[in-house]
Amino acid sequence: MSRLKKVLLTSSIVAVLAIPLTASSEIAETPTFTPKQLADWLHLVMSTDRAVYTKKIVNRLVKKDKVIKASEHFEDDKALVLPAQMFRFGAEEVSKKTDQFTYSLQSLWPINKQNAPRTDVEKAGLAYVAENKGENYYGVEELGGTTYFTAVYADPAVAPVCVSCHNEHKDTPKSDFKIGDVMGGVVIRIPVKG
Ligand code: HEC
Repeated sequence: MSRLKKVLLTSSIVAVLAIPLTASSEIAETPTFTPKQLADWLHLVMSTDRAVYTKKIVNRLVKKDKVIKASEHFEDDKALVLPAQMFRFGAEEVSKKTDQFTYSLQSLWPINKQNAPRTDVEKAGLAYVAENKGENYYGVEELGGTTYFTAVYADPAVAPVCVSCHNEHKDTPKSDFKIGDVMGGVVIRIPVKG
């Protein structure tokens, strides 16, 4: 192969490689989804992980195989962490790593007062998802000079243990939950301006 051919061949390979590289970095930096889609996808991952932990770990080891129990006082009781605590510990770790979004599991009737809503949008969102089964709530709020997109997703009582544990808990402000009731909600907050 002549030197010229080699140069041409090499440069065409470089060109072929270079185009996708430039294009991929441009694509990586081009906004293609909305804050609502982002919140919906984050919620899909977190709610699926929580369901998997509940079904494949807690239900299997506690109910089916009966090798361990799940307890709020998991350290003292040498027990499994409750799904809601698992969720909160994850959210607390994420909040140390990024301020691009925050999330939490809240309720208008919280066992743990730390899980009560604080902002008007959180309160309105939790009330909305409790009254409108199957619907999400999306709002915008300004906090400390920053505008946030805030999404609220219902957390329904999908199993009898949700209801019995909450209704019987010493710290619950509500003891008449029924199966299928919305017990709280996941709040995801994304800064959009400011
Ligand atoms: C064995 C008891 C137990 C079971 C079972 C249980 N929870 Fe909870 N749940 C708790 C405790 C304790 C907390 C407070 C956790 C914390 O420290 O943040 C909590 C927290 C929550 C919260 C946040 C608000 C609050 O009350 O603090 C929601 C919402 C919630 N649980 C929904 C559910 C749902 C839905 C299920 C069933 C899929 C369920 N829980 C099963 C004990 C339980």
